[in-house]
Amino acid sequence: MNPKRPKILLATGLSSSIGTALVAGLSSEKSPWRIISTRRSPMHAEANAMGSVEWLDLDLRRPSEEVLTTLEDALADRGVEGVDGVVHLAGVVYSDRFKATTLGEWRDTMAVNLDGAMVLMKVVSHRLRAGTSVVLVGSVDAKMASDLGPAAAYGASKAGLAGLARHLAAEWGGQGVRVNVVAPGALRAGAGPQDAEAMEQVAKRCLLGRLGRADEVADVIRFLLGQASSYVTGAVIPVDGGLGLRY
Ligand SMILES: NC(=O)c1ccc[n+]([C@@H]2O[C@H](COP(=O)([O-])OP(=O)(O)OC[C@H]3O[C@@H](n4cnc5c(N)ncnc54)[C@H](OP(=O)(O)O)[C@@H]3O)[C@@H](O)[C@H]2O)c1
Repeated sequence: MNPKRPKILLATGLSSSIGTALVAGLSSEKSPWRIISTRRSPMHAEANAMGSVEWLDLDLRRPSEEVLTTLEDALADRGVEGVDGVVHLAGVVYSDRFKATTLGEWRDTMAVNLDGAMVLMKVVSHRLRAGTSVVLVGSVDAKMASDLGPAAAYGASKAGLAGLARHLAAEWGGQGVRVNVVAPGALRAGAGPQDAEAMEQVAKRCLLGRLGRADEVADVIRFLLGQASSYVTGAVIPVDGGLGLRY
C-alpha cells in the first residue's frame, strides 16, 4: 500500500454508540483513515458531531437494487475504488417475544441487521484489496437466548451474520481478505438493556460482573481491522465479559 494514501474504511451505522467509540479510536491511530459510513438520517446528534466522517444517508430497512445503485453511485462520486476496512454496525432490536413479533418487525430486523450486511458486502466485493479486513457486528444473542435479552428475530439476524462471515472468509481468503464477526454481550449503551433492573440482572450473569462499554467493543473491532490480527479470519469473537459462558 502507498504509505501516503489514507486507508479507507467503509461502514454502516457509525452513528451508533459502538461506532462513535470506533471513530474516536481510529482517529487516534498513527496512520490516518478516511472514514465513510451510511446512516439512516442526519438527525443523530452524536453523528453530526463526528465531523471527520463522510456520511451517506441511506435507510437500510428496504434493501433493493435501487439502494445498491444509490450506494454504488455515492462511492463512485467520491472516487472510492478500493477499501481497506469494512464494518457493518447498523442494527435494530425489538424486544417483543415471538408471539407479539409482527411481520413488519421481523422484516425490519432482518433488513437492517442482515440484508444491510449483504448490501455492504455487494458494494465492497469489487473494491477488495489484499489485506482488506471486514468486521460484521453480531451479538451474543446469535448463540444464546435469554428472558432478559432481545427476542428471536434479533437472534436469527445475528446468527445469519456469523454464517455470512464464514462463507465470505472462505470465498475471499485467497485474495488475502479477512472476514470476522465481533459478538458483543450487553453494553451500558445504545441497544443494550434499557432499564436499571435488567441492567443489574444481566451484569450479574457476566463473569466479569458488569456490563460492557462501547469502547471495549470498538477496541476489538480496531484489532480486527489492523495488522495485529493478520492471521485471524472466519472467527466469531465474543466481547461479552463472559456472559456467553455462564451456565
Ligand atoms: N449495545 C449493545 O448492548 C449491543 C449488544 C450486542 C450487539 N450490539 C450490536 O452492535 C451494533 C451497534 O449497537 P449500538 O448499541 O452501538 O447501536 P445504537 O447506538 O442503537 O445505533 C444503531 C445504529 O444502527 C443504525 N440504524 C438503525 N436503523 C437503521 C436503518 N433503518 N437504516 C440504516 N441504519 C440504521 C443507526 O443509524 P442512525 O443513527 O442514523 O439512526 C445507528 O447507527 C448493532 O448492530 C447492535 O445490534 C449492540
